[in-house]
Amino acid sequence: MMEETQPKISSGLEGIYIQESKICKVDGINGRLYYRGYSIETLNDNSDYEEVCYLLLYGRLPKKDEFEKFKSDLRNERTVSTEVMYLARSLSKKMHPTDVLKTAVSALASEDEELADNSPEANARKAVRLISKIATLAAAIERARNGKEPVAPDPSLSHTDNFMYMLTGSKPSSGQSKLINTMFILHAEHSSNASTFTTLVAGSTLADIYSSVTAGMAALKGPLHGGADEAALKMMMNIGDPGNTEQYIEDALAGKQKIMGFGHRVYKTYDPRARILRSYLEELRNDKDPETRRLIEIAIRAEKLMIDKLGNSKGIWPNVDFFSGPLYVWAGIPPELFTSIFAASRMVGWCAHLLEYWTNNRIFRPLEFYTGELDLKYVDIDKR
Ligand code: SDX
Repeated sequence: MMEETQPKISSGLEGIYIQESKICKVDGINGRLYYRGYSIETLNDNSDYEEVCYLLLYGRLPKKDEFEKFKSDLRNERTVSTEVMYLARSLSKKMHPTDVLKTAVSALASEDEELADNSPEANARKAVRLISKIATLAAAIERARNGKEPVAPDPSLSHTDNFMYMLTGSKPSSGQSKLINTMFILHAEHSSNASTFTTLVAGSTLADIYSSVTAGMAALKGPLHGGADEAALKMMMNIGDPGNTEQYIEDALAGKQKIMGFGHRVYKTYDPRARILRSYLEELRNDKDPETRRLIEIAIRAEKLMIDKLGNSKGIWPNVDFFSGPLYVWAGIPPELFTSIFAASRMVGWCAHLLEYWTNNRIFRPLEFYTGELDLKYVDIDKR
């Protein structure tokens, strides 16, 4: 048999381009991020999450009447069936909230009459249902974890304000409203990251949109991806006094541990989303809440140490997950909910990529270079 020559193996598909796309540009060298050609800074300063959803799904900013219709569609799809809400609430104390959310999102397929219709129009309508309902579920699951009844959505509120309202039972303050809108925009989309790629692999088999995004949610949970925000905050909690920060991180690095919230496969400089969140930290450094001040102090000390040690030398800089934690704590959001918020925000990115990929679908089927043995002889068990 011809000896196969060893091919170039791209571990973790590093450096491999899977397709052309017009959705998102991640410039890892210059630390820039664009959704459909608009920089993340421009969108954060001028837009809101509902408009960003329209932009990502349809490729351009909406005209006034288009936007009113889209917002109305989103707001009309916020309720969840009794069965799915019961499933979510019944599991809320048995699993991590991100796992409950993944299970409940999968079950949303049970209430969608267009499930089997894979036309672009039907898939766009299903995307709207998923974007709306995942936020309702994330809030209801957190309330059920704490023995509270769900809060019915308020159609007069924006998507992100309504999420906070369903979570807490009160309308958010202006500071909370601004922060949660920023969080949803910053987490909405990021090209072919692990969870979006997983979503596309599932979608490339022509599995339905609910099955595909459920696969993506499973990938998002890992601490190397969407689970890093919760892990980074738990590290800050473990550090305790800000004065312990440097020693804690030096010890972790000496033990070959990765510091959650730092490093990125594409960004080899400061993640532009982290830079925006870092500016919020500055605004809250002297906040009246001592816990907020403590966490921010730890985050700033950790940032300085990690950049000094690994920034220019190894291209390891803060990513979007590092500063999220102290800001969510300030907004009254518990660590166990962070990744669910990431999933709720990123639902639009997963759906936008599926809609784009399905216009020129091809099943993903990469290769492995086999290095095992061949043509072994079978030996009966009593002779082995
Ligand atoms: C997200 O892809 C996306 O776009 C994701 C995301 C999105 O919006 O979808 O941006 C969201 O997931 C951000 C990343 C969140 N994850 C973390 O913060 C977890 C900690 N980070 C690392 O696990 C790591 O940096 C990754 C997973 C983010 C990237 O991994 P790579 O590119 O495979 O890098 P690697 O693990 O091969 O590390 C290369 C070197 C190693 O050192 P050497 O063995 O070469 O000596 O860098 C070191 C690593 O040990 N390193 C770190 C480190 N990250 C990499 N060392 C300490 N702390 C870290 N955080």
